Amino acid sequence: MDFHILKNASEGVGRNVEDSLILALDFPNKEEVHTFLTPFGDEKLFVKVGMELFYKEGPKMIEEIKSMGHHIFLDLKLHDIPVTVKRAMSSLASLEVDLVNVHALGGKAMMEGALEGLEAGTRSGKARPKCIAVTQLTSSTEEMVRTEQLGSVSLQQSVEHLAGLTNEAGLDGVVCSVHEVERIHELVRPDFLTVTPGIRLLGDNAHDQHRVATPAIAREKGSNFIVVGRSITRAENPVEAYGKVQKEWRGITS
Ligand code: C5P
Repeated sequence: MDFHILKNASEGVGRNVEDSLILALDFPNKEEVHTFLTPFGDEKLFVKVGMELFYKEGPKMIEEIKSMGHHIFLDLKLHDIPVTVKRAMSSLASLEVDLVNVHALGGKAMMEGALEGLEAGTRSGKARPKCIAVTQLTSSTEEMVRTEQLGSVSLQQSVEHLAGLTNEAGLDGVVCSVHEVERIHELVRPDFLTVTPGIRLLGDNAHDQHRVATPAIAREKGSNFIVVGRSITRAENPVEAYGKVQKEWRGITS
């Protein structure tokens, strides 16, 4: 797909207005995916396939979703030694998805390896999938950085450092929380992609997410893509919830 970034006049940061709501297909099998997608009819979506679904259904699921005309973020969050990630990314490139990711905590050499693998595995004439890195999971807290990762810096500093490292490795952007977007665009570069999960409509349950925000706040802060799962997938009427999130995200008030 074309990741043409439109300038957001009011905030001066990149925004892809057409395809920038990524719907997380966090389902255990293809039957549930089909049941979920059917009411959306012919609408072309940008969906996220994560570990749960990919480990069960494999690359066939990707082919199926692509044949429906949807864009795909394959969210497998690779984290291993550089050569393994490089080879894995070369295999993933053959699936011709739009977006893939790694954990920035795997290090700069690993991220460079990811990019090399993607380039090597992309068929000539095809676009290399964009590659982004997870900084800190949106389920992470200040306390976890301190006591579990033994970090001597704040969560915010850790995220900012990892975003800089990701840029140095040549990747296209990061997964981060909405609250970190402005600072990352300021520190790294305005067109560095920020993909933000942890999105909730007002009144929704946050579940296991700690750093959450509404689509309107994500828009205000300049997120390039929002990733929305349970606020839509667990809604009584997912199509209606999708419309509601989309409207708020795009700033449509009527
Ligand atoms: O249901 P919810 O909207 O919380 O889903 C968020 C999705 O984004 C999940 O699929 C989760 O794995 C993913 N994600 C995340 N935080 C990250 C990276 C990915 O929540 N840092």
